[in-house]
Amino acid sequence: MPSILDRPRQVAATLRSVLRFAPLELDRVERRLRRAAGVADLRAIAKRRLPGGVFDYIDGGAEDERTLAANSEAFARIGFRPRVLRDVGAVDPSTTLLGRPLPFPLVLAPTGFTRIADPEGELAVARAAARAGLPYALSTLGTRSIEEVAEASDGPKWFQVYVWRDRGLVKEMIDRVSEAGYEALVLTVDTAVLGKRERDVRRGFSLPPKIGPGTLLDGLLHPGWTWDFVRAEPIRFANVVGADVGDGASAVSLASYINAQFDPAVSWRDLEWFRASWPGPIVLKGVQGTADARIAADSGVEAIALSNHGGRQLDSAPATVDLVAPVADAVGDRLEIICDGGVRRGSDIVKAVALGAKAAMAGRAYLYGLGAGGERGVDHVLGLLDADVRRTMALVGARSVDDLTSELVNQAGLG
Ligand code: GLV
Repeated sequence: MPSILDRPRQVAATLRSVLRFAPLELDRVERRLRRAAGVADLRAIAKRRLPGGVFDYIDGGAEDERTLAANSEAFARIGFRPRVLRDVGAVDPSTTLLGRPLPFPLVLAPTGFTRIADPEGELAVARAAARAGLPYALSTLGTRSIEEVAEASDGPKWFQVYVWRDRGLVKEMIDRVSEAGYEALVLTVDTAVLGKRERDVRRGFSLPPKIGPGTLLDGLLHPGWTWDFVRAEPIRFANVVGADVGDGASAVSLASYINAQFDPAVSWRDLEWFRASWPGPIVLKGVQGTADARIAADSGVEAIALSNHGGRQLDSAPATVDLVAPVADAVGDRLEIICDGGVRRGSDIVKAVALGAKAAMAGRAYLYGLGAGGERGVDHVLGLLDADVRRTMALVGARSVDDLTSELVNQAGLG
């Protein structure tokens, strides 16, 4: 016969079995990151933490942001054709790029003004990339210098250049990059003039950000960012300090700066100059179709990054992942293809590789992590993408990147 005391005992036992107390996390950043299940969650946290103008500079694209949206929508449209019973007990996502091993097929894209997301800026990103063994491409418009980044990271480093009117300045940067042990030069060719970033126009956003009457409230509403920002040394273009081009210390519209400093008259002939000035591999970033991919292959560059600058330059340019298969068909045997734009999940990386890219490249994904949790936020993003790639490969039935062929994807959709 059950005793009257059994009932409370049973309730206590049931409660013990269903209640779970997570250990109290005292570290604020850990608390924030622990619940970020994907890049979209980190974006939401970054949106809360960063002033509106800063978040919009990172998050926004050109004009109607059609290409910005299309980059991600194109990934969402591509379906998988999974295979089963293929012994995926040991999935290995490693590959090679430009002759170097890569733990999984990802490159951290160059992004300008990285210190607006976090005072450590490029140093935090470079250190996180090095820990993950992934290449990090420092931008010409970086806010930490070539040498500072080299000092902070012994991981694989690339340097991104624009073609400045002052070629002496470009040559000087290339020499510094070579001296500091960077492995590849990324030549961005989609920025003859700057795209029209309408969010920045509406916000009256200047670079570096200034806290003026219009943005004071924004600053007060984001005290964590503002406190970090005012305590840190001023944000400048760290790579051109001392050159006669302005170091970004005074507020400018990026459009007027770029339009004054970058040479819109560059042409394929200028590639010869780069070839003669730089002994290592060249990645041509901003190719957006097969015609230019063929010229790039003829001109002997080692890799192209199919890229529309994250939808920040020409609006209505094609979604990059849609270019991968035709470009791989045309020139995949002559150079390596990197797919840049809209990568938010490891499954996006897997799709790009299955369609013929050697690797994917992502900028905003890590900037959201940086804005959400500093250097640990970048670690978190890279960890998520790595785990995503491994899980997706297992679920589509691919043991290695060699198994990632176009038969595993369906460009017509999920049907
Ligand atoms: C710089 O390259 C930018 O896209 O803002």
